Amino acid sequence: MKLGVNIDHIAVLREARKIADPNPLDAISIVKRANAEQITIHLREDRRHINDIDVKNIIKLSSIPVNLECALSHDVIDIVCKLKPHRATIVPEKREEVTTEGGLNILGEQKRLKKVIKRLHKHEIEVSLFIDPTVENVNRAKELEVEWIEFHTGRYANIYAMLYSNLERTSHSIKELELPRDELKIMLQEELDALTLLSSMAKDLKLKVASGHGLNYQNVIDIAKIPTIDELNIGQSIIARSIWIGLERAILEMRELIKR
Ligand code: PXP
Repeated sequence: MKLGVNIDHIAVLREARKIADPNPLDAISIVKRANAEQITIHLREDRRHINDIDVKNIIKLSSIPVNLECALSHDVIDIVCKLKPHRATIVPEKREEVTTEGGLNILGEQKRLKKVIKRLHKHEIEVSLFIDPTVENVNRAKELEVEWIEFHTGRYANIYAMLYSNLERTSHSIKELELPRDELKIMLQEELDALTLLSSMAKDLKLKVASGHGLNYQNVIDIAKIPTIDELNIGQSIIARSIWIGLERAILEMRELIKR
């Protein structure tokens, strides 16, 4: 199972001061040295963290593949086509969200998706769709002839946090907070079962499978046991840990957990 390190949060820290430091470009050699297989970045429409210059430089200088997350926005897709990352992951985007809160509405966006996917393929860019883990979404992604899907693991991560972490600091729906622990345990297992079943279904359909969002040094362990997931994209928890032990060690620890 490969590891893609999402380095957006380095740019989040830079943008807190709107200065030049820390520069996410400086992370690319460290990510490679720590044996991660991919750099993941998200060029948001509002450019709240990664900007156009970051994307250009990272794609140009990275010796490992770059997975560029982007929304279905004309301007951003133009940039993606011009800069040609190894892969484009299409994600939904809302201005007011703190982070990508859910997967794509494939049915509602089918026409636009078809057009954009065709365009990206013309530029020889692999395409991935960030989706909630459902049978319908896997089938619809297959119909759109993409190479990859990425399952949004946010719900899994939230249920895990409700069970095992400080409840006041997790992002989740209040309704679920009131559920008894036994019920939360069942819900967590259901999420894992769904991810297992759907990734295996996706493999049968010849789709490559990534997963990510909200994964950390605890909740990644059960996800890493799912043999049909090809890749995990992890950002916030790695960058947070890097404050204490440095980026290279933080990635190496995550790498080791996934391997084990
Ligand atoms: N994968 C996708 C498609 C994402 O949008 C994100 C968040 O930017 C991640 C993975 C990484 O999520 P996190 O930062 O919570 O690890």
